[in-house]
Amino acid sequence: MQGGAGTVNKIVNADIYSHPAANLDFEGRQEFMVGNGLFRKDWVSSPSSTQASDGLGPLFNARSCQGCHVKDGRGTVPGFDPLEQNDAVALLVRLSLPASAEEARQRIDQGEVASLPDPVYGHQLQPFAVAGLPAEGQIKIDYEEIPVRLSGGETSTLMNPSYRIENLGYGPLHPQTRLSPRLAPPMLGLGLLEAIHQDDILANAARDHGDGVSGRANWIRDPQTGQQVLGRFNWKAGQPTVAHQSANAFSGDMGLSTPMFPRHSGDCTPSQKLCHDMPHGAQAHLGEHEVPARLMDFVTTYSENLALPQRREVSDARVLAGKKLFYESNCIACHVPKYVTRRDAERPEHRFQLIWPYTDLLLHDMGSGLASDHAEGDASGREWRTPPLWGIGLTKTVNPNATWLHDGRARSLLEAILWHGGEAQAARDRVVAMTPAERADLIRFLESL
Ligand code: HEC
Ligand code: HEC
Repeated sequence: MQGGAGTVNKIVNADIYSHPAANLDFEGRQEFMVGNGLFRKDWVSSPSSTQASDGLGPLFNARSCQGCHVKDGRGTVPGFDPLEQNDAVALLVRLSLPASAEEARQRIDQGEVASLPDPVYGHQLQPFAVAGLPAEGQIKIDYEEIPVRLSGGETSTLMNPSYRIENLGYGPLHPQTRLSPRLAPPMLGLGLLEAIHQDDILANAARDHGDGVSGRANWIRDPQTGQQVLGRFNWKAGQPTVAHQSANAFSGDMGLSTPMFPRHSGDCTPSQKLCHDMPHGAQAHLGEHEVPARLMDFVTTYSENLALPQRREVSDARVLAGKKLFYESNCIACHVPKYVTRRDAERPEHRFQLIWPYTDLLLHDMGSGLASDHAEGDASGREWRTPPLWGIGLTKTVNPNATWLHDGRARSLLEAILWHGGEAQAARDRVVAMTPAERADLIRFLESL
């Protein structure tokens, strides 16, 4: 029951990530269903005859949430075969400038902005635009193969990506603009992660975990209240709540305005003049935003209540051996196994649940292999938030083309582990030193989650 009383025991098929939490009440289920529809629906550009679904863009990354979060799981990066590169919809590229100037540094330190945008292209690259407007460009990936020798005579091949942007629609990027590609993560148990008490997360930052592991919090400014809040979501813990990231996605990824991010033109910058002149989808009788507060709430309820699947083969001897290796290798220094959620969580379903997410929700220096030079808030280019591992064993059941890590470079769970460096170097080295049978057990444990 890794997701507490909300865990579901359903047939394992491609829909296994898409069930509402088992303990969601009747009203919650109704909201979840409406939210599900909104998560799946394709938005269209304005003006359009389908009035409640328009307002897409002017610039956008995808037409629907599910276009990236495939079946509520993670997205797909373009094929590793260079001949097979398709549009990398779910691989979103964040853009930033180094904060060299004193004034810029101050704005970031005070949490006013998480990073400085490219002056023309903004905070992220949008590969699509409505008719009549140029799109911003497409990301292209080249992979270099890196063989890694493991004890017992095995070899694993890591795919090291390098990124460039083609077909730039608005002239060159600023010469110092940095790219940070991010893959859409799975949507499981997010409301439960919100219900972990902040003190429990900060206690992990203060504790000595051995191996030189020291997690750090990403403090960010709530755009609505102006207060400093703890970041929990996204690959760099750059967003405090599911509602924030959902509104951020409507704005940045689809160009739709919400009460939290009221600009109809999303990530259009002042120098993209034509972009601001395109029609938008807000309608007087529905309020001033393309996605009114009520609809936003449905999407948030949906995103907060996707159920964890029950674990499989929990008492299998090999799985248990793998679990022991997971603990002994000190993976748990960052992938902290369990929590009891707060008793005063907003929704009753999330209160006082024993959950097993295997994350500390903190930032760690993961070494140069995974680093980029894009910083975000307090997170440096080398730091990533420990992703939860719950549900990870069903990744390919849900999306057979899914891959792992922040930019989807790992084709298997073993490759994901072998990319660990920095604070996780010691844990990774223990996996390299295992016998092939032990490594297989460790993977079997992960597959049972
Ligand atoms: C273009 C692809 C794309 C679309 C469309 C998209 N997302 Fe995402 N989503 C991502 C990526 C990439 C991340 C991680 C971002 C980061 O690390 O900065 C993410 C992260 C999230 C997270 C945080 C998950 C976690 O575990 O930290 C939530 C919640 C979320 N998205 C909700 C939504 C909702 C709701 C929509 C539709 C309104 C949506 N997303 C549309 C790509 C997408
Ligand atoms: C120092 C902290 C730390 C330790 C120790 C650590 N991890 Fe991780 N792990 C991370 C972070 C951070 C990421 C995300 C890195 C990225 O995406 O670039 C990650 C990613 C992963 C992923 C991929 C998750 C996904 O959603 O794509 C797996 C699987 C994983 N770790 C397993 C392990 C195992 C097994 C061990 C022990 C051998 C381990 N980790 C030790 C921090 C750690």
